Amino acid sequence: MKKLVVATRNKGKVNEILRYLEGAAFGQSFSAVLSLDDVGLDLDLDAIENGTTFEENATKKAVAVQDILGDDYIVLADDSGLSIDALNGEPGVNSANFMGRDTLYPVRFEAILSQLTGDNRSARFVCVMAVADEEGVTLFRGEMEGEIAYQPAGYDGFGYDPIFYLPDYGKTSAELTMEQKNAISHRGKALKAVIEGWLNEPN
Ligand code: IMP
Repeated sequence: MKKLVVATRNKGKVNEILRYLEGAAFGQSFSAVLSLDDVGLDLDLDAIENGTTFEENATKKAVAVQDILGDDYIVLADDSGLSIDALNGEPGVNSANFMGRDTLYPVRFEAILSQLTGDNRSARFVCVMAVADEEGVTLFRGEMEGEIAYQPAGYDGFGYDPIFYLPDYGKTSAELTMEQKNAISHRGKALKAVIEGWLNEPN
């Protein structure tokens, strides 16, 4: 049976993905879920993530890892980010590097909030997942709609969660539990699509 490798080094993402997959009773499809660190692959994913769309970046990462690991592995790579309508979709595919990769998130929040002076605060998190095996790549997309908050709130999650406000909950995504966030998140939706549309298909 093949092993599934999640091609990311982002600990927040690995935790969310593992937590989601654990609850999804999919054990018949592969024997293990591993991270890049588990398989000892020291690959510079940032250098690969240079495309202009989430689809392009996810595909590039999945294919690069699958090429190295070979046919015993299925590789799941994601590319995600925050798209803010009033900023023409920025930071978008540049979410991780926005204002510099090492810039602290509170500094980024301040810059974003100071640019959003009008009423249009609509935004969405987008996640594209690419699943690569020896037969090729299949893409899945998930989105979570929300608004940019007027000020940061909450300590859970990661990245831009403290400024991503969900009107239905009256909270930011940094104030949700991991289970709550997984149930509605862009990543949760993309993973659900992966599980329903691909992993459960009869081989
Ligand atoms: P990449 O997918 O590794 O290119 O990076 C995505 C970046 O988008 C992360 O480093 C975060 O800055 C942001 N991001 C993606 N998903 C989330 C999320 O669920 N919460 C907060 N920020 C996110």
